[in-house]
Amino acid sequence: MYQLKINDLSEQEFLTHFWQKKPLLIKQGFSHFEDPLDANELAGLAMEDSIESRIVTNHNNDWQTHQGPFEDFDLLTEENSTLLVQAVDHWHPEAAQLLEPFRFIPNWRIDDLMISFSTPNGGVGPHLDQYDVFIIQGEGKRHWRVGLPDPTLKQFAQNKKLLQVEAFEAVIDCILEPGDILYIPPGCPHEGYAVENALNYSVGFRAPNQQDLLSSFADHVIDTESGQKRYTDHNLVTRASKGELTNNEAEKVKHLIASMLEDDGLFKQWLGKTLSQPKHEMDLAPVEPAFTQEQIANELAEPDTIFERVGGTRAIYQLCENELLVSINGDNFTLPIGDIAAVKLLTDETEFNTNELANAQNSLVFVQMFTILVNEGIWFNANQE
Ligand code: SIN
Ligand code: CO
Repeated sequence: MYQLKINDLSEQEFLTHFWQKKPLLIKQGFSHFEDPLDANELAGLAMEDSIESRIVTNHNNDWQTHQGPFEDFDLLTEENSTLLVQAVDHWHPEAAQLLEPFRFIPNWRIDDLMISFSTPNGGVGPHLDQYDVFIIQGEGKRHWRVGLPDPTLKQFAQNKKLLQVEAFEAVIDCILEPGDILYIPPGCPHEGYAVENALNYSVGFRAPNQQDLLSSFADHVIDTESGQKRYTDHNLVTRASKGELTNNEAEKVKHLIASMLEDDGLFKQWLGKTLSQPKHEMDLAPVEPAFTQEQIANELAEPDTIFERVGGTRAIYQLCENELLVSINGDNFTLPIGDIAAVKLLTDETEFNTNELANAQNSLVFVQMFTILVNEGIWFNANQE
């Protein structure tokens, strides 16, 4: 387990003073830091088709990006190169542990763990990210500079796959050592170059924009054949200008759209589905032959059994009027309110002991849902591993 210490700040003090506000250098955020993997293992992951990876090189200031999967690592030269692998938490349970200390930020906001390996002077150059990130220094050292958001800074494409930003003034300029962490809010320019071979772990967050939200809501409306209400104007009166679409009519159209968003059932079903959708492939092994509900009920009734969930699982719940809406990896389940304690074991924790479930007094509907989840390979009995 990794224990996070945010300088002398409590988690709440960090949220109040830094989260989405200012960058922060957290010296020895993890003391006695041990890397969950090494560069060879990272390279192994970058050979897999289902894992997104890239190598960025900057020889003589010529920035090149190469997309994985890789058959060899000739491009990862002794200097001026970086290998970056996305969503390693989906594939590497020990690396996934690095997300745990950051779960004081709601689960649905956490995205994935990206890991990079850089050789001296390697990096991705000065850039901005749209999302908050904690960059943890593993093995090696890396020189980081971080600035404050500056709308006058121009972004430009070094190549088709690499957006950078022009030179910026740094408010943090430091050499990160193993266990040090940088918190960088969205829009803060930053750049990091390895001083010696370096592993960096980026805990990334999600923050959907209006465009993503609206287009995914529209898809949900179409999929569920909702939104059939049509514009009506039974109080129509004659008007002087036939070409005019009045403000009143425009308002009525706006309300027609807004009424769908105000339909709490439709809205929450969509929100749970979309926010729990993983963005990267998952390492799922569906159970063959599938367990029956009775078998799962028996396993849950066994004391001291640990059920673990697979890395990258996104599990959230929403309180609805008379029920709970549980959303797991893009699928929704409706459960009785009384299942709240059992549901929290799935959504607040990455593993639970069946003893805790015994206290939670779950319903049959919960067992039904959990049977589906186990059969899909999302939760598994860790005692049988
Ligand atoms: C990296 O580890 O090279 C990239 C991390 C970042 O700048 O977001
Ligand atoms: Co970045």
